[in-house]
Amino acid sequence: MELRFSTWQEVAAYLQNSKTIILPIGSTEQHGPNGLIGTDALCPEALAIELGEQTGALVAPTIAVGMAQHHLGFAGSITLRPSTLIAVILDTVNSLVQHGFERFYFLNGHGGNLATVNAAFAEIYAQSSLAQTAADLSNVRCKVKNWWEAEGVMPLSKELFGDADGSHATCGEVSLTQFAYPHSIKSAEMTPPIAPTGPFYDAADFRRRFPDGRIGSNPSLASPEAGEKLFKQALGGLEKDYAAFAA
Ligand code: NI
Repeated sequence: MELRFSTWQEVAAYLQNSKTIILPIGSTEQHGPNGLIGTDALCPEALAIELGEQTGALVAPTIAVGMAQHHLGFAGSITLRPSTLIAVILDTVNSLVQHGFERFYFLNGHGGNLATVNAAFAEIYAQSSLAQTAADLSNVRCKVKNWWEAEGVMPLSKELFGDADGSHATCGEVSLTQFAYPHSIKSAEMTPPIAPTGPFYDAADFRRRFPDGRIGSNPSLASPEAGEKLFKQALGGLEKDYAAFAA
């Protein structure tokens, strides 16, 4: 059940049975020569919608722009500053608390969001601990789950792509978008085949170290068939994880 396609009466009825909501969160950032700029938002959104179908859970609109300052050296990337993303998460959660939601399951598509999302959770709990709000937040619980950390996904990626999966513009995430959005499949030469790895700091540093945007990956190995396998594996793991959180 998707919030954007629901009426307020349907949401009110949902709240009679569940106080849990799934919030896909991603990023709008370059994903190398054949990866879509929306990859990190499209992956958790597609999984969240199917997870909602399977479990009956309500799915909030995707927070599609995240913390991606290091990608700004590439055309089309958009970032929120960490403080802005914290404010977006806080306002979203506080709005939903007004209606009676208590459990917030953030399904994440971008590793670069994690520190900020966890800082936002700490702010939410601090509101309660410091009695900064009239709303009762004592039962509010937040969780962030990376889709690629759902049970069995990383071993499957390893089996499918070996060391070519990489850590940005990965074969796995590109495959997942190719499965979910087959009309947007791109192909490109990868030079070198496997991209370099290493640390990075700001956008200029990232561009210098990773000139085509990939880190450690060869996403020319991506395929919709691999994406379907990863999607099904992730969905199974997420169903269990969501059920445990909602219980
Ligand atoms: Ni990504």
